[in-house]
Order: sequence, then C-alpha cells, then structure tokens
Amino acid sequence: MNKKVIVISSSPRIGGNSDTLCDEFVRGALDGDNAAVKYNLEEIRFHACKACYKCKTPEMKCFQEDGLAEVLDKMMEADVIVYATPIYYYSMCGTLKRFFDRCYPIFNQLEDKDYYIITSAGSSNGNALTGIRDFISFSKNPTEKAVFTVIGDAKSQTELLKEVYEAGFDC
Ligand SMILES: Cc1cc2nc3c(=O)[nH]c(=O)nc-3n(C[C@H](O)[C@H](O)[C@H](O)COP(=O)(O)O)c2cc1C
Repeated sequence: MNKKVIVISSSPRIGGNSDTLCDEFVRGALDGDNAAVKYNLEEIRFHACKACYKCKTPEMKCFQEDGLAEVLDKMMEADVIVYATPIYYYSMCGTLKRFFDRCYPIFNQLEDKDYYIITSAGSSNGNALTGIRDFISFSKNPTEKAVFTVIGDAKSQTELLKEVYEAGFDC
C-alpha cells in the first residue's frame, strides 16, 4: 500500500514471457494503491559502463547522457524494486548485466528496499539467481521478497499470473 515500485524489464521481447509477468506485477501494484513504473531496457539505448570512475567523484553522476539517469533516480526513490530477465545460457541476459554495471553510481546508496526477481526460461534458471542476488547484496539492508520463474509461455499460466498480480498488490 502506497509503496513506490519500479520494475526493470530487460527482455528484448516486449510483451514476451518475463515482460508479461512484469505487467502483472505492475497491474497488481497499481490496484493495491501503490505507485508503479516499469522500464523496458530494450527501449532505452544505453551504453556500457566505461569504468572511468567519474561517478565516484563528488558529482556522483555518470557522464553518459543516454536516458538511464531517470531510471537510477527512480530506483533511489523506490521502496520496491523488481528485476526481470530472460535466462540466457543459465545466466541473466546481457542487457540486465549491462544495466547493473551502469548502476555503479548508486549501488551502495540503495537502502532498505524490497526486491522481487522475475525470470523466464525455456527449461531452467541455472545460476542466474546467483548473479542477480550478488548485485542486490551490494545494496544496504536488502530484503528479497520473492522469485517468480516462468517456463515457457507466460500468458497461458493463469495461476502464476495471479500469484504475480497478488505479489504486486500486496507489496
Ligand atoms: C541467447 C539465448 C540463450 C538462451 N539460453 C537459455 C538457457 O540457458 N536456459 C533456458 O532454459 N532457456 C534459454 N533460452 C530460452 C529463453 O530463456 C526463453 O525463450 C524465455 O522464455 C525468453 O523469455 P522472454 O520472453 O522474457 O524474453 C535462451 C534464449 C536465447 C535467445
């Protein structure tokens, strides 16, 4: 109730399996009187982290002006963060990893957030959760609330869609 929710959807398949679960989470969150916003990383043309460490100077900003600043600001403000990825070679997809690398200016300023992880796979998550959890562990006092994994076509999995909707509603 009255939480600020940000959903980071990283699949290139907008409306695909993980993105469908993201939409259900957002729908539930809004119905539960929360403020929710979803970003499809596919729609934001952003570069990789250049490891210049300029973001670690007092300015604390990335010099690359490519549309990610708004997303990072929203993450800082959020109470609830959802990371969603399709599984590629038993890992998170490259787009989500590239995004995590670009979180270097803020990763250790994220504090007291609740986290949800959404994955979609043909058969299994493999080690993908480890990498995502490792990134989350760099934030302060994180709470992992739930992991939702869809194997195959999301739109036909009504029980799972309901679970994700309810998680958004109750977040
Ligand atoms: C490059 C690539 C690598 C993949 N590797 C895996 C894998 O290691 N394990 C798996 O279960 N599915 C794998 N898949 C299948 C996707 O995870 C699966 O189709 C998923 O539902 C796509 O999710 P999306 O609709 O959210 O993009 C791979 C797909 C692609 C394109």
